[in-house]
Amino acid sequence: MTDIVLKTEGLTKHYGGVHALNDANFELRAGEHIAIVGDNGAGKSTFVRQITGVESRTKGKIWFDGREVSFTGPLDARESGMECVFQNLALADDLDVPSNLFLGREIIRFNLGPFSILNRKAMRAATEEGLKRTGVKIPNLDNPIRNMSGGQRQCVAIARSASFASKLIIMDEPTAALGVQETAQVENIIRTLKDRGIPLILVSHNLRQVIDLVDRIIVFRRGHIVASLNKDETDGNDIVSYITGVKSQNTATASI
Ligand SMILES: Nc1ncnc2c1ncn2[C@@H]1O[C@H](COP(=O)(O)OP(=O)(O)OP(=O)(O)O)[C@@H](O)[C@H]1O
Ligand SMILES: [Mg+2]
Repeated sequence: MTDIVLKTEGLTKHYGGVHALNDANFELRAGEHIAIVGDNGAGKSTFVRQITGVESRTKGKIWFDGREVSFTGPLDARESGMECVFQNLALADDLDVPSNLFLGREIIRFNLGPFSILNRKAMRAATEEGLKRTGVKIPNLDNPIRNMSGGQRQCVAIARSASFASKLIIMDEPTAALGVQETAQVENIIRTLKDRGIPLILVSHNLRQVIDLVDRIIVFRRGHIVASLNKDETDGNDIVSYITGVKSQNTATASI
């Protein structure tokens, strides 16, 4: 139990009559990189939203880093060392890259009563350093995020999470909208997280990427976890047969 970083028991989310997630039992071990795959609407993002507390769950329990948790949202999760890059990412449009990277944890120069003066120089230097370390290339750091392409924004969001994650990072389809080069950059970031021993949950439709990057693959189908596959014991065809319901490890859901 001690090397379990994240565990869910009976995690369930219903949106009215839509049973988006049902009785999800899940475990992630120290340093482990896991992928979550499944068709559109299978419940992957719902699962991520329950863990990070973006939405309240219908039922179930979550343990993180040795204690039972009930996060009230991404900021709360972040305070405990869990970072998340959401499928619909949240960056502040009018701020430049350093301000976005440090949103919510700005480096303060000094406090004047309720006001704080930000240390912009330190934030910029740390941003340059962080982007260099992760291999993300942003042409002009002073540009507001609004003027960046979708792919560049996504890279900023991922670099932000990767540099602050201490205990777990969750990425929901981080490369779905990225070109070849940006995708390679993000995959490199993921490899550096593995080297640093930081566990990862990667939601992805890209099976080549999943097989390349992670240790274990969890398949969601119609709101249920239907398989947990070791990377070395599976392949693309095998994974697809679980995604489409041809195969199931979970007899209770095989007939759904
Ligand atoms: N806020 C909501 N209100 C009602 N239904 C929702 C809501 N969010 C998600 N759903 C439904 O829950 C189910 C699971 O959605 P979810 O977003 O978790 O899928 P997903 O596996 O992430 O799919 P994708 O691969 O397309 O991102 C879908 O049927 C979806 O329509
Ligand atoms: Mg999704």
